[in-house]
Amino acid sequence: MKDKATVDMEKIVSLAKRRGFIFPGSEMYGGLSGTWDYGPMGVELKNNIKQEFWRAMVYSRDDIVGLDASILMNPKVWEASGHTEAFTDPLVECKQCHERFRADHEEDIQAHESEHKKKKEKMEWTEPRKFNLLVEAFLGSVEDEKTKVYLRGEITQGVHVNFKNVLNSTRVKIPFGIAQIGKAFRNEITPGNFTFRSREFEQMELQWYVKPDESEAAQWFEYWKEERRRWYESLGMRKENLRFREHAPDERAHYARAAWDIEYDSPFGGWKEFEGVHHRGDWDLSQHAKFSGMDLTYFDEETKTRFLPWVIETSGGVDRAALFFLIDAYHEEEDRTVLKFHPKIAPIKVAVFPLLANKEALVSKAREIYKELKPRVVTSWDDRGNIGKRYYAQDEIGTPISITADFQTLEDQTVTMRDRDTARQIRMPIINLQEVIELVLGGEKLLDFGKPVR
Ligand code: GAP
Repeated sequence: MKDKATVDMEKIVSLAKRRGFIFPGSEMYGGLSGTWDYGPMGVELKNNIKQEFWRAMVYSRDDIVGLDASILMNPKVWEASGHTEAFTDPLVECKQCHERFRADHEEDIQAHESEHKKKKEKMEWTEPRKFNLLVEAFLGSVEDEKTKVYLRGEITQGVHVNFKNVLNSTRVKIPFGIAQIGKAFRNEITPGNFTFRSREFEQMELQWYVKPDESEAAQWFEYWKEERRRWYESLGMRKENLRFREHAPDERAHYARAAWDIEYDSPFGGWKEFEGVHHRGDWDLSQHAKFSGMDLTYFDEETKTRFLPWVIETSGGVDRAALFFLIDAYHEEEDRTVLKFHPKIAPIKVAVFPLLANKEALVSKAREIYKELKPRVVTSWDDRGNIGKRYYAQDEIGTPISITADFQTLEDQTVTMRDRDTARQIRMPIINLQEVIELVLGGEKLLDFGKPVR
């Protein structure tokens, strides 16, 4: 087995393309830097991650509700939230070739300097300047009257501007949360490392409203840090590849009083952030109250007090999570490459084959099983090539269970079920298939349900 230190990113990128996970955006027109398209496997992986997030945050709790705010918002929102002023990265430009870099990305800077040195060229940088990351768009049909708007730089503001709407339309009481999943856009100076730094990406967030009290906020902060780490681990991300890192005060976003990143030990330069837990204090609500003139205070029925709540936020990147789940699942074994996804996030759950594609009785039996399973669980059919090639293909997309109808099936109504992780098989009566599949998708081991026959 290869561990993460030796996982080769080129192999990940190539598998992602070959098997339909991730394609470069607008590829046939030369691409568009920082954009990616998710193929048939990628969209399933991402949807599964989002569904599990929603299940954990909204469906399994009484104190969190969901929201889906629009991407386009009144530009005043971004003034109020501080993004037009402070949502910046430090930019430097090479005076020799005019390439632009983030001044705080030392590795990129050094690599660029050494390229020029190799060619014995002079190397000089401009002074760092603040570069705003908000992406602009223009709305309206009359050319001169078009309104400049921004594509949202974080999905967060759509939640805070609806704080009162949610309070007035539901029965939530502090502490409570609003969860949201959606696209965000940033004009990143240097997109790169595959999907890691994109210009269009998806976020999954929780805005958790608490009393304005330091010790209570600190407790909730710890609680959510731990919950989020547990969530990633519950979906199979290996413990040893995860860590927390606290932001230094000069690293924090303009809205954050405290910030911790959840990081993954990536094959491209080690530990990289893929989720942030932030103490936003009353930054958002107080700014929106000030700029809109609306009273955004909360009346606490128990204590009969009125206050502006504080916010603890968990903000994860769906694309970064998908990338790190993909890398974490990647294993090279002697004769195969296999993605050992947790069954809950695997794009396809079950594959069904006839042992031989030219034996009508086998094909129709396998087809019967396939038709039975397909409406209940994401199932794929394959009768191409030989059985070894089909297993190989399913391993590369991480399908946890493969079912084969063979000659014995025609005699005793049993099939083989192959376990992706061990490549071993057990025999199972067709009548028990659905029950066993459900248990395996919930995290139980297939081999516990029968003695391996191969
Ligand atoms: N609302 C807080 C917020 O947006 P952030 O740390 O700027 O916080 C949260 O972003 C998460 O969004 C990051 O941890 C990362 O997973 C994802 N993200 C941010 N910028 C990204 C980019 N350029 N490409 C892909 N994902 C990104």
